[in-house]
Amino acid sequence: MTDPMVRELDFFKEIQKSLSAKSIASEVFADIHKNPVKSDVLKGGEAFKQTDRDCIIGIGGGAAMDVARAIVLRVNHHRDLFDYDDLIGGDQYVTEDVPYFITVPTTSGTGSEVGRSAIISEDDTHRKRILFAPKLMAKIVFADPLLTMELPPFITAATGMDALTHNMEAYISKNFHPLAAGIGLEGIFLINQSIVAAVNKPSLESRSKMMIASLMGAVAFQKGLGVVHSLAHPLSSLLDTHHGLANAVNLPYGMRFNAPGLETEFKRMALAMELETTTGEAIVNHLFDLNQQLGLPIKLSAVGVTDAHIETLSDLAFADFCHPNNPKPVTRNDFKQLYLEAL
Ligand SMILES: NC(=O)c1ccc[n+]([C@@H]2O[C@H](COP(=O)([O-])OP(=O)(O)OC[C@H]3O[C@@H](n4cnc5c(N)ncnc54)[C@H](O)[C@@H]3O)[C@@H](O)[C@H]2O)c1
Ligand SMILES: [Fe+2]
Repeated sequence: MTDPMVRELDFFKEIQKSLSAKSIASEVFADIHKNPVKSDVLKGGEAFKQTDRDCIIGIGGGAAMDVARAIVLRVNHHRDLFDYDDLIGGDQYVTEDVPYFITVPTTSGTGSEVGRSAIISEDDTHRKRILFAPKLMAKIVFADPLLTMELPPFITAATGMDALTHNMEAYISKNFHPLAAGIGLEGIFLINQSIVAAVNKPSLESRSKMMIASLMGAVAFQKGLGVVHSLAHPLSSLLDTHHGLANAVNLPYGMRFNAPGLETEFKRMALAMELETTTGEAIVNHLFDLNQQLGLPIKLSAVGVTDAHIETLSDLAFADFCHPNNPKPVTRNDFKQLYLEAL
């Protein structure tokens, strides 16, 4: 299971060759959307059933790994796919066996390789839904930074900012989970050290740090995410914006919203970022600066948002599943103000 672009890359063909060299038969399914939808999963599930396979390998970015995980669920679970939505208690129906599952990340962003959830959108509304169950965790993860060496600068930057957002939002999320918080802080440290080099002057060292920190971000966000992911998700639903790019643009604004009252947490994040000034404001300025160094936009207008989108975006953000874990409550009006500020 991969996506149409990764399928064409040399390393993907090498993986196929090495499987056949060991007489392991395989088939490739790569027919998925950039922001994957339910019908991708249903098609993939059918494709799997028509073969005589016993294992699913998800190779690619978050999109391919999420669809792979949803197909792992689909094979022996036949209710409507969104009956398994975590937010309506769907994991109670995940009772059957699942095929053996392996993940091979080829971007450093989502950390989906170590996750237990798949984010799949509704075909018509494009609303993102979460399928979650502990059984959906991969049995083996091959996190090999060599597979990310050809990742183009823009995708490296956008996926890397997704990973930074995971570590930061998890660290300050309101839930009690000191283990995840510790991992989040170290993730922030590693990304801050390596993201600019990974994008502008890639080496195995910088890309390795990004890959492990991305994986750490996904471990950390068991503690919860927050306002930034809720601001980002509607951009992908409405305008098909890449998930990491949507987070990158919203991150400084979301952190500015959260900083007052969280001086201790922001000080510790600033220390992890090796900033001289350890205030929330210094972090916000640093995040704007990072986006600029990475060639990413700092305004929503640059990703196609206009005044006309603000009300719908605010409704969708308020309905999103991430902000209930934000350290402070976020109202619909807060979302509107944050979008207007970022426009
Ligand atoms: N499951 C989770 O916990 C979780 C968390 C965050 C995001 N997500 C989901 O993950 C998806 C985003 O994943 P992503 O940021 O990895 O992007 P992606 O999977 O969309 O990949 C981005 C692009 O990079 C290309 N690509 C991938 N690997 C490459 C390589 N090695 N070399 C060259 N090109 C390569 C892909 O073909 C694609 O065009 C979204 O659908 C989002 O909702 C899931
Ligand atoms: Fe994310």
